[in-house]
Amino acid sequence: MRIAIYPGTFDPITNGHLDILERALRLFDKVVITIARNSAKNPLFSEKERLEMIRRSVRTLKGVEVDSFDGLLVEYARKKKAVAVVRGLRAISDFEYELQMALMNRKLDEDFVTVFLMPNEKYTYLNSSIVREIARHDGDVKDFVPPHVLEKLTEKMHEGKARSKGTKR
Ligand code: COA
Repeated sequence: MRIAIYPGTFDPITNGHLDILERALRLFDKVVITIARNSAKNPLFSEKERLEMIRRSVRTLKGVEVDSFDGLLVEYARKKKAVAVVRGLRAISDFEYELQMALMNRKLDEDFVTVFLMPNEKYTYLNSSIVREIARHDGDVKDFVPPHVLEKLTEKMHEGKARSKGTKR
């Protein structure tokens, strides 16, 4: 059984992430899509909400496990008996950071393998931060996220606006 890890923040999961996940499923028997808990980030969605959105998004896919983890990715990958970690590479701008991470992970564990997959070109400019930003300004993100994520995003933005109106009073 060849297992791969697909780690990220997934705040929220986008069609670009799902594109990468589906490509990874062609190469591996099982892909563990996993949320890295990162106290330096202040995500819009709670971990529970992000896990729920991922679970709904992958319901029809076979060979996917949904999880989250603390600590180093190398340790987690070892624990999961993964043969590789999958990362999406969208543009040259991703490359420097990804190369640094891949090499550092390999330094930490020489057996660590990173596999970079390129998403469909229609997702090369897409990331979760841009999706959140557009949604915050009531822009249309329906082409970038699954319908149930769109619903959650709309809800979240309304909650945020109601809260800020309340505090202004
Ligand atoms: N709050 C929430 N999300 C944020 C954010 C913030 N403040 N800032 C950026 N993001 C989003 C971006 O929108 C982007 O979304 P995308 O997935 O659509 O690209 C994503 O987070 C970019 O963050 P980045 O840190 O580049 O990658 P990632 O979150 O996808 O994954 C890990 C990074 C999980 C692979 C890496 O942090 C890791 O391995 N962590 C475990 C600890 C570890 O081993 N560290 C050593 C690595 S050498």
